[in-house]
Amino acid sequence: MENSRPKRVDTIFLMEGVDPIKVVETTIKKSPDDIILEMIDSGLKGRGGAGFPTGLKWKFTRNEDSYDKYVICNADEGEPGTFKDREILDRVPEKVFAGLAICGYTIGAREGFIYLRGEYNFLLPALNQKLDVFNEGLKKIGLNFTIQMRSGSGAYICGEESALFESMEGKRGEPRNKPPYPTVAGYLGKPTAINNVETLVYAFMIARIGTEQFKEMGTKDSRGSKVFSISGDTPKAGISELELGMTVQQFVDEFGDGDTKAVQVGGASGGCVPRKLFKDTIIGYEGIPTGGSMMLFNSSRSMYNVLHDYLEFFTEESCGQCTPCRVGCQQLLKGIEAVKRGEKSPLYLQDLKKLAKTMKVAAKCGLGQSVANPFISIVSNFKEEIIY
Ligand SMILES: Cc1cc2nc3c(=O)[nH]c(=O)nc-3n(C[C@H](O)[C@H](O)[C@H](O)COP(=O)(O)O)c2cc1C
Repeated sequence: MENSRPKRVDTIFLMEGVDPIKVVETTIKKSPDDIILEMIDSGLKGRGGAGFPTGLKWKFTRNEDSYDKYVICNADEGEPGTFKDREILDRVPEKVFAGLAICGYTIGAREGFIYLRGEYNFLLPALNQKLDVFNEGLKKIGLNFTIQMRSGSGAYICGEESALFESMEGKRGEPRNKPPYPTVAGYLGKPTAINNVETLVYAFMIARIGTEQFKEMGTKDSRGSKVFSISGDTPKAGISELELGMTVQQFVDEFGDGDTKAVQVGGASGGCVPRKLFKDTIIGYEGIPTGGSMMLFNSSRSMYNVLHDYLEFFTEESCGQCTPCRVGCQQLLKGIEAVKRGEKSPLYLQDLKKLAKTMKVAAKCGLGQSVANPFISIVSNFKEEIIY
């Protein structure tokens, strides 16, 4: 990225001259294998946080031999600080629907679902109305694929893909053991391609503009652009679509308030980057990956309070199924409280870091595994704010 500021792009919200049904109609003239090759070649990686290559996910699901297969759009968006999927569904829902339809055709599914975060239910009437029109459009172009809405109930864990399937099946939202992975046994035990809202829009975009134009943006490891949810101590809070590959410093130059001391990249479950590392940290898969939440903190903030808030959130949202996460979250929270009160020595923070590292490998799902990201980065870089 030549420019010292992050490059703003406007592709995702652009609707002028875009006819999603027409793009689906043109795309399904290609063979599913060709679409998969294009998706793999584009380098598109999932925008939900884990960054799994989208083309491979579609390929694995297509390769499964099953009459019933499903496509699910993960619109649970429970990560603190993330609000980009809400904006996408509000402003350009037809692009999401078209991404689902293209995925459905590619993997051989007849049904697609959008699992919407419970707190976003206010979007349901408009989405259902637009879906009726879109599903009719799919019929007219001869694609045997329909999309329906499903509503969550506001549990963070239900954004984890296998807990989401459990929730959709009417059960308590708890993660499943893996393997089998969703591409083999997902919703109702059938092969399922589950993608984030934004991933599906970029898949739609690649089908529309081709891989070459998509690959022109970003870096070798982080192709394309990304929608960021920007909050905290910034005069420019809100949504911005930016080319991938910028450093945290470039991001702060554009969005900071001149006094930024830390940036939490990737929501509460991401890592906290202190000022001294801004220049050397790339926002992307080669550096610090993100689902898109960027929280900026200036010197008025106590990083103890920030970490305390995150740990309270994880303690509240842990599904309680596995001990490392259920007990670990509580112990980390109680631990920093004890250090802050002076009941435990600062050395105790080393033990807590070891516990966080253990959770990273021993917790059953991404919730417990990722608590180490904020914990270790905040405790290591802002120790003086944690201790008594
Ligand atoms: C606790 C937890 C919450 C998650 N919440 C979401 C979410 O709200 N939206 C999302 O797309 N992915 C979420 N994920 C990641 C999903 O499990 C999954 O990786 C993602 O939907 C795959 O889509 P992608 O490949 O397009 O990124 C969450 C994971 C965990 C562990």
